Amino acid sequence: MQPSQPKNLWGGRFTGKADAGFAEFNQSFSFDRRLFAADVRGGIAHCEALVHAGVLTDAEGEQIRSALGKILELGESDQKYFEELSSEDVHSFVEARLVEMIGDLGGKLHAGRSRNDQVATDLRLWLRDEIDRVQTNLRATQHSLIEFAEAHHGVVIPGYTHLQRAQPILLAHWCLAYFEMLARDRERLDDVRKRVNVLPLGSAALAGTSYAIDREAVARALGFDSVSRNSLDAVSDRDFAIEFLSTASLVMMHLSRLAEDVVLYSTSEFGFFELSDAVATGSSLMPQKKNPDSMELVRGKSGRVFGHLVSLLTTMKGLPLAYNKDMQEDKEALFDAVDTVNACLSVTNTVLQNVRVNDAVARTAATGGYANATELADYLVRKGVPFREAHETVGRIVTQAIERGIQLNELPLDDLKSASELIEEDVFEALSLESTVATKAQIGGTAPERVRAELQAAKDRL
Ligand code: ARG
Repeated sequence: MQPSQPKNLWGGRFTGKADAGFAEFNQSFSFDRRLFAADVRGGIAHCEALVHAGVLTDAEGEQIRSALGKILELGESDQKYFEELSSEDVHSFVEARLVEMIGDLGGKLHAGRSRNDQVATDLRLWLRDEIDRVQTNLRATQHSLIEFAEAHHGVVIPGYTHLQRAQPILLAHWCLAYFEMLARDRERLDDVRKRVNVLPLGSAALAGTSYAIDREAVARALGFDSVSRNSLDAVSDRDFAIEFLSTASLVMMHLSRLAEDVVLYSTSEFGFFELSDAVATGSSLMPQKKNPDSMELVRGKSGRVFGHLVSLLTTMKGLPLAYNKDMQEDKEALFDAVDTVNACLSVTNTVLQNVRVNDAVARTAATGGYANATELADYLVRKGVPFREAHETVGRIVTQAIERGIQLNELPLDDLKSASELIEEDVFEALSLESTVATKAQIGGTAPERVRAELQAAKDRL
C-alpha cells in the first residue's frame, strides 16, 4: 500500500508540487521518527502553554492533549503507524496525524511555535535521555574493570612505554587506569547534560513569540533546568550536540586504546590474555586462528564517532543565523554516535568478563626485559648515589647482562660490586618482582596495598 500524502505545511504560497526526487532528498522522516516521543511530549507542553496564554480554550486544549496522547500510543505500539503517511519530517507527521484525528482544531497547535524550535527541543529531550543511558553503560564498564582487577589482583604484567618493556605493574593497576579515563568521561557527560537541558521551545522560528507563553512553565513540564535566553541562538546552534559528540569521541578513544591493549595482549607474542570463544572468531581458512574481532571492531568504530564530530562541526561552521536546512544533517550523526558508543561499551563489558589471564606468561614477561633496571638505580639512590650517576652505572650493568644473556639479578654479586661498591647482598631482594612493585607505594602507584586501596575507593566512587 502506498503511504497517503498529507497537505504541505505551506500550502498558501505554493501552487506547484515538489519534485519527487527533491522531496525524497529533503525528507528527514525516515530517520527523525526517532524523535517521535519527544516531539509529542513537546506538543503536549506547548498545548498547555497555549491554554494558559488564552490562545486555546480549556476544552480545545483538552481535545488536543488527549489526541496527542493517543498518537503517542499508536506510534509506540505499531511501526506501521509511521509507514502509512508520508511526511517530510517527524514534526509534520505528528501535526498531520493530529489534524487527521481532530480536524481543523489540530491546526491551532502550531501558533507560537516553529519546526525550528521543535527540532531543537526534540533533539535536546532525546539526547538528555540518551546521555543517561550512556552514563549507565559507562558505569557498568567501570564495574567490569573493577571485577576484572579484583579477580586478578596478584597478577603482574610488564608496563610499557614506546611499547618497550618499562617496569612491572599490577594488572589491576592497568584496569584502574581505564577506570579513571571512563570516570572523567562520565564527568564530562554530566557537564554536557547541563547545557543540553535548556528549553528552546518558544523561540518561534527565530524572533521569539508574541503569545503570552510561560516558557518557564513549559520548561518545568518537560523537565528542563532552564529556558534559552536568546531565540536566534536557541534555534540555530547545535553546540550541545557537538559537545556530546566530542565527549563521545573521547569515550571511543579510551575504549579503542583498551581494545588495542587487549588485542596485543591476546597475541601469541604477548600471550597474557586469551579471549573466550564467546567474544572471538575463527578463520575460514586457517584452523589455528582465534581472532579478537570484538575488540578490533570497538577500535575500528571509534573512527565513525570521530567522523560524526568533524562532520557536524563542518556543517555548522559557515551557517548564517538563524536556522538553515543544513542542520538537518545533525541527526544521523548524533543517532549513530549514540548507538555506536552504547554498542561498544556493551561489547567491551562482555569482553572484560571473557578474558582468561595467563598469569605465568605475564609474570615471566614482567621479570625479563630488564624491567627492574630503574629499581636498581633507585636502590643506589637510597644508598646516597645521585640519580644521574646511578642511571649511568645501571646502564653499564644492563649492557653486561645483555652481553651474557642473563637478567640483572642473575649477575654474581662480585660483578655488581665492580660496577658500584655500594651494592650489597640485599640487592637481590630489591630486584625481585615483588619488591619492584611494592616500592611504588605513593598515591597513584602500582604497589599492591595502594592498588587495593584504590580499588576500594573506585568501588565507593561507583
Ligand atoms: N527536519 C528539519 C530538521 O531536521 C526540521 C526543521 C525544519 N524547519 C524548516 N524551517 N524547514 O532540521
